[in-house]
Amino acid sequence: MAEHQSQIYFAPGIGQNLATYLPELTHKKILLLTDSNLAPLYLDEVVAQLKLLPAEVTPMVIPAGEHSKELSTVLQVYQTLIAQQFSRQDYLLALGGGVIGDLGGLVASTYMRGMKLIQLPTSIVAQSDSSLGGKTAIDYQNYKNLIGTFYPASKILVDPVYLQSLSAREMSCGLAEVIKSLLVSQQQPADYHLLTTSHFQSGVLPAQVARLIQAALQVKTEFVRADFYDFKERRFLNFGHTIGHSVEALAHGQLHHGEAVSIGMVTMLTALVEHRLLAPAVLNVVVNCLQQLQLPLTIPADLPRPAIIQQLYLDKKAANGQIELVLLKGPGQAYLQTMAIPEFAKWLGWSK
Ligand SMILES: NC(=O)c1ccc[n+]([C@@H]2O[C@H](COP(=O)([O-])OP(=O)(O)OC[C@H]3O[C@@H](n4cnc5c(N)ncnc54)[C@H](O)[C@@H]3O)[C@@H](O)[C@H]2O)c1
Repeated sequence: MAEHQSQIYFAPGIGQNLATYLPELTHKKILLLTDSNLAPLYLDEVVAQLKLLPAEVTPMVIPAGEHSKELSTVLQVYQTLIAQQFSRQDYLLALGGGVIGDLGGLVASTYMRGMKLIQLPTSIVAQSDSSLGGKTAIDYQNYKNLIGTFYPASKILVDPVYLQSLSAREMSCGLAEVIKSLLVSQQQPADYHLLTTSHFQSGVLPAQVARLIQAALQVKTEFVRADFYDFKERRFLNFGHTIGHSVEALAHGQLHHGEAVSIGMVTMLTALVEHRLLAPAVLNVVVNCLQQLQLPLTIPADLPRPAIIQQLYLDKKAANGQIELVLLKGPGQAYLQTMAIPEFAKWLGWSK
């Protein structure tokens, strides 16, 4: 549906030419939302670009990290918008990773029932996934993404040059999600071929990262087009996330999201191979990519399997003791299956 679509621009150097990409912001008020890691790196440059239009820019910097994705931060942003007399015709520009994008999107979608939203994603997760598709969210009472809306940005400007300042760990975590997207992509065999031929070592060539991000963005575009409200195909992008979320929650910050997803994917692929539902070669290809990125492949020894299973009852995709799983017959052949949680534990070979 046309109203669900964002205009996406992908090019190195967009950040240094923002005025060219955003003529509609001329003489508008812009709330420029970013985090404390990105502000020292890019805030001045972005403000200078927007002033060229000219536009009236209000920068707002929030502490970096998932803990900022909460209600009190949303209220602070509303207060700034009110104090500066922002109208629905004005813009919120989200400069940052998935946290800034999700939070900024939620504010933009609810302030005066919806102000204009532009995404300027800076992490791999944001560039390849979260800036696109309109999901906005904050966490509440230990539930991740509990409160949110569907509200696509009018424009998404993807500049891979921003990735140069990303830490190696964030880079690997982001690429774990890219690997997952290419695996479930319905544009096969091209995307699986990309997995088998790309080099994922840290220090991957910028051009190669850019190519992988572009491919993952395309995968997301197709899933969002087919299933904007996330009832079916879009859920294929959750491959590896069921076990991943459990492991991430129990690791209490020791594992980043991409690392937990890496473990989740390998756990599911291994079980699928053991049940003869998937060719071992697919598992090997994915493990090879994740290993090159030095991502963890197995559940940490101090996380007991029964605790991981117990944690599944708190999963958003669980209801009445049943969990919805994303399974895979082959590259691009994901499907959904609901299983009773004790049944799933047996299926994994974790209980009798
Ligand atoms: N809306 C969606 O569809 C969707 C999809 C996937 C993930 N998410 C959400 O996205 C968030 C995870 O995204 P994320 O990994 O980008 O998290 P993030 O925004 O916390 O960014 C990760 C870290 O990298 C830093 N960073 C980002 N870009 C940088 C750059 N260019 N240079 C230096 N440092 C940089 C950030 O300051 C932060 O410390 C989670 O909250 C998750 O729920 C949303």
